[in-house]
Amino acid sequence: MKILAIGASSSRQSINRKLATYAASLVTGAQSLVLDSTLLDMPLYSIDRQTNDGFPESAQLILSHIHEADAVIISLAEHNHSYTAAFKNLIDWLSRMERKFLLDKPLLLLSTSPGGRGGANVMAQALKFFPYTGAKVVGSFTLPKFNDHFQDGQVIDDELRLQLHQEVSKLTTSN
Ligand SMILES: Cc1cc2nc3c(=O)[nH]c(=O)nc-3n(C[C@H](O)[C@H](O)[C@H](O)COP(=O)(O)O)c2cc1C
Repeated sequence: MKILAIGASSSRQSINRKLATYAASLVTGAQSLVLDSTLLDMPLYSIDRQTNDGFPESAQLILSHIHEADAVIISLAEHNHSYTAAFKNLIDWLSRMERKFLLDKPLLLLSTSPGGRGGANVMAQALKFFPYTGAKVVGSFTLPKFNDHFQDGQVIDDELRLQLHQEVSKLTTSN
């Protein structure tokens, strides 16, 4: 099984990329590709730019990674209660290339932040929105207080780790 893991942030130190990477590692026997944060650094979508310059290479590459994946994990960073501008921009480009750009793939939605709500606002938006992208949303998990609960590449709180394992397992059992 091939998993595409996306931290929905252009930060090189993205805590969401760390969480998505960890979650992908929990899928037994899976081969995972973690999206490089620099790929999200692309021109701002506009209809004029699309018409004049076409689609950014990085957006095309990300769409090809989605095509190749059997399942997708997206961990959402929250900026001002919503998606990061970089990730919203990616959504806009992808949706112009392929309206249902998640192509019926099983999708696990995650979010984390240093605060106590763990990105709950952006998660609420994403749970409503992602079904429109063609994704089969199989589960979700929000990790509050990242710096307290995630150390040495893994979730250290037993209860939260168990919850995450349960959500991750839905990627392989949902078919
Ligand atoms: C512009 C900006 C807005 C932010 N807004 C929120 C917010 O609304 N809720 C929240 O929990 N954290 C907020 N944060 C803190 C982010 O959760 C934190 O920077 C986190 O590391 C982002 O995830 P990332 O490391 O994966 O990029 C904000 C950070 C920035 C830079």
